[in-house]
Amino acid sequence: MIRVRVPATCANLGPGFDALGLAFNIYNTVEVQKIHSGLIIEGCDKKYKNENNLVYTSMNKVFQLANYKPSGIKINIKSNIKESSGLGSSSSCIVAGVFAANEIANSRLTKVELMDLAVKIEGHPDNVIPAIYGGLIISMIDEGKIYFKKISIDKKIKFYILTSDLQKCSTKELRKSLPKYILLKDGVFNLSHSLMLVEALRDGDFDLIEASSKDRFHEPFRKKNIKGYDEIYKKAMECGAKALVISGAGPALLGIFNDGNIDEFKNYLHGLENSWDIKKCDVDDVGVIVENNI
Ligand code: HSE
Repeated sequence: MIRVRVPATCANLGPGFDALGLAFNIYNTVEVQKIHSGLIIEGCDKKYKNENNLVYTSMNKVFQLANYKPSGIKINIKSNIKESSGLGSSSSCIVAGVFAANEIANSRLTKVELMDLAVKIEGHPDNVIPAIYGGLIISMIDEGKIYFKKISIDKKIKFYILTSDLQKCSTKELRKSLPKYILLKDGVFNLSHSLMLVEALRDGDFDLIEASSKDRFHEPFRKKNIKGYDEIYKKAMECGAKALVISGAGPALLGIFNDGNIDEFKNYLHGLENSWDIKKCDVDDVGVIVENNI
């Protein structure tokens, strides 16, 4: 049996829309084995127990490239990353699928080739690459080629993920609410802020994190889908947050703290509608882990 563990990821980090992503120690684990025939999928909602399952369709892409035909496949999904929550659940399924299939097909593709394929399937690199390599990743695509850099983060920065039961939408749907064009001044704003944010995270410069984590590309539009966002943001700052950004397309949020009053913030969140909760998370610096013959 093959076991693949993939971390959750927060994409964008405010101004780094489609370019920045960070992996955390929340994991989806997928176990895959060859069986005599057919397809068995366990551990997920009934609606995903079929040939359209994202882990399975991603596996098939590798099988096609490797010209490999398994007799049958059994997949068991242990999910801790909620679907469409803004924490890279689709990316985790895709990454798990391509890495598991590569083991079954005798590792014919390299890690970089698997990354290319996973980004192609997912559409955006900012969740997929940190899910594979861990840590804070800057990525870009130029003439179809993917480039990325892993940036170290100052250890004193504390990250908190905020979740709720707010209605989740697919990223594809949520991208439709974004403008097609942006003003040059907003482009300059995001460019300068995202460059500065990377340095601020590297240095643990909290004043700079606070100034540079603002965004004009997606958060002004997406926050409308997150009921109470402005009040939550205000309270986070009152409780000492240095930043509160939308994780990916939301509705999860990512709080960045030095020393804040987390208990007060937590009590406030627990008093809100929509079952808001907050959890301290550590950066996953490892990325995908594949175990074979277990
Ligand atoms: N960068 C993408 C977006 C990631 O914000 O639409 C989605 O998780």
